[in-house]
Amino acid sequence: MSLMPKPRSALKPIAPIIAQPLRQVTDEELRRYADLIYRRTGIKISPQKKTLLSNRLGRRLRETGIATFEEYYRYLTGLPNSHPEWDAFLQEITTHETFLFRDEGQWRWFKNQFLPAVAASQPEGIKQLRIWSAACSTGDEAFTAALCIAAAFPDLSRWRVQILGTDIGIGAVQQARTATFGERAMRLVPEEYKSRYFDKLPNAEVWRAKPKLTAMTTFRQHNLMEPLRERPFHLVFLKNVLIYFDPPSKRVVLNHVKSLILPNGYLVVGAAEGVGDLMSDMTRIQPWLYQRPSQPQAKGVAKPLSHSLTR
Ligand SMILES: C[S@@+](CC[C@H](N)C(=O)[O-])C[C@H]1O[C@@H](n2cnc3c(N)ncnc32)[C@H](O)[C@@H]1O
Repeated sequence: MSLMPKPRSALKPIAPIIAQPLRQVTDEELRRYADLIYRRTGIKISPQKKTLLSNRLGRRLRETGIATFEEYYRYLTGLPNSHPEWDAFLQEITTHETFLFRDEGQWRWFKNQFLPAVAASQPEGIKQLRIWSAACSTGDEAFTAALCIAAAFPDLSRWRVQILGTDIGIGAVQQARTATFGERAMRLVPEEYKSRYFDKLPNAEVWRAKPKLTAMTTFRQHNLMEPLRERPFHLVFLKNVLIYFDPPSKRVVLNHVKSLILPNGYLVVGAAEGVGDLMSDMTRIQPWLYQRPSQPQAKGVAKPLSHSLTR
């Protein structure tokens, strides 16, 4: 064998980098994971989501160093519910897309109709306003509400405003608590509001809500399939989450949510939530806006509270 260096043209060509073929869950694995996700969250994973699920699970496999989808399933289901891997798993399989002033028409209603009505409906003195952003993701909806309230009621000292944001994902909740938003999330926020209600963090394309807004908001982890132990709200946002649920899960969630809306209070849903059939006990104002009647329409509905909110 010659020790002479080979002429360049004779060198073995470098093997092209071939993308690793994407590992896919098998049909049986898809069924088992879909069942697990459904039982845990109410989210329905259809067989068409096979590639998406495989990609998302693939990231957990890489993070944990586990070799196969089957092993990861065994590992996960052997952990207590409180184990952080469950949070990481849920964070991975859920969609968190959100931004401030999403669905601008809804926010026009909030500013021009809802807030003036809630102010007019309460006697002089300290006024109250309770809002729930259910499935709040990183808090963008809750902070949009806080911003509109701060702009509408300059004298906030006469108001007791509580905006609760909840989400199943602890990662999303922790992010919401930082009250920080990137440029993309802020793209629909009017310029005058940006500088008035947010601080631009130095050396970062990140805006942080000022204390005037954060004072109104709290965030905590909560699964919508379970009841929320809270006093009723004047308004609940339940947007872009029920699209992932099947009718029985939607019914469970809506029963919990509706029981926490004050008589005459409102429910705002996403435009494509598919809840129309489950809303016969509420008054439909828009495809995305429902009002709870002032008197319970059916036996067993909670006694109306003395507070009433007119449109
Ligand atoms: C697409 S985001 C919607 C955020 C916001 N409501 C909006 O419309 O911009 C959906 C959120 O629903 C949350 N989610 C999914 N299943 C849930 C459940 N069972 N309970 C509570 N939150 C859930 C996800 O973690 C995710 O953050």
